[in-house]
Amino acid sequence: MGRAKLKRINGLEERLNVLQEGHSLYDSIKSNWRKGCFKNENPIILELACGKGHYTTGLAKIYANKNFVGIDVKGDRLWVGSTNALEDGLKNAAFLRAQIQHINHFFDTDEVDEIWITFPDPRPKDRDIKRRLTAPRFLNLYKDLLKKRGLIHLKTDNLPLFNYTIEVLEERNDVKILESTYDLYQSTLITAHHGIQTEFEKKFLQNEIPIKYMVFQFVD
Ligand SMILES: C[S@@+](CC[C@H](N)C(=O)[O-])C[C@H]1O[C@@H](n2cnc3c(N)ncnc32)[C@H](O)[C@@H]1O
Repeated sequence: MGRAKLKRINGLEERLNVLQEGHSLYDSIKSNWRKGCFKNENPIILELACGKGHYTTGLAKIYANKNFVGIDVKGDRLWVGSTNALEDGLKNAAFLRAQIQHINHFFDTDEVDEIWITFPDPRPKDRDIKRRLTAPRFLNLYKDLLKKRGLIHLKTDNLPLFNYTIEVLEERNDVKILESTYDLYQSTLITAHHGIQTEFEKKFLQNEIPIKYMVFQFVD
């Protein structure tokens, strides 16, 4: 690992807006995000696989009356998001360094209002299907922590992952796909993404790969 990357990861320990092992709130944050972290009663929106957290900080700037938490395992990417949030004085943006499969250790039932999943790893191999962030076991975790009818947005460049997600959702009787497009930038749904582009999205757009987008919710 390069020295600059290591320095960024070590620097996270001093960041109040990054919850990772060692942070005073790390073990007690479940059901405590509003009171303990954000000091308000506002809604909580997650960005999963956030990387550098473009939705976390981008939406936090637009919606001062909502709280945003970006989640990723990669400390150096979170460091960039955390720096952007601090530089912009965003008190309603925070980051959690954790594996998403452990998300229920950090959020209680009904604690979350909305979820964005931004360009998750496609995990194309058969043996990795269960690691896709829209695999059934992940959807069940999201269902538990989301408030009733809370929205889940998915943005991806990857056609097989997008089609896989549609298949998984259509097999369930507790989900409704509200909107979906294979080409967001040619679609009337374009306003739904708030004009925010993530780091990976910019790369895909440079290579002229259409961005797929859907929004769905659990209905019972
Ligand atoms: C392709 S990148 C997308 C990053 C960012 N959303 C963007 O669009 O620029 C996928 C991210 O998901 C994170 N990730 C993948 N699986 C994860 C998991 N199970 N738990 C937490 N983070 C995960 C990776 O560390 C990586 O930063």
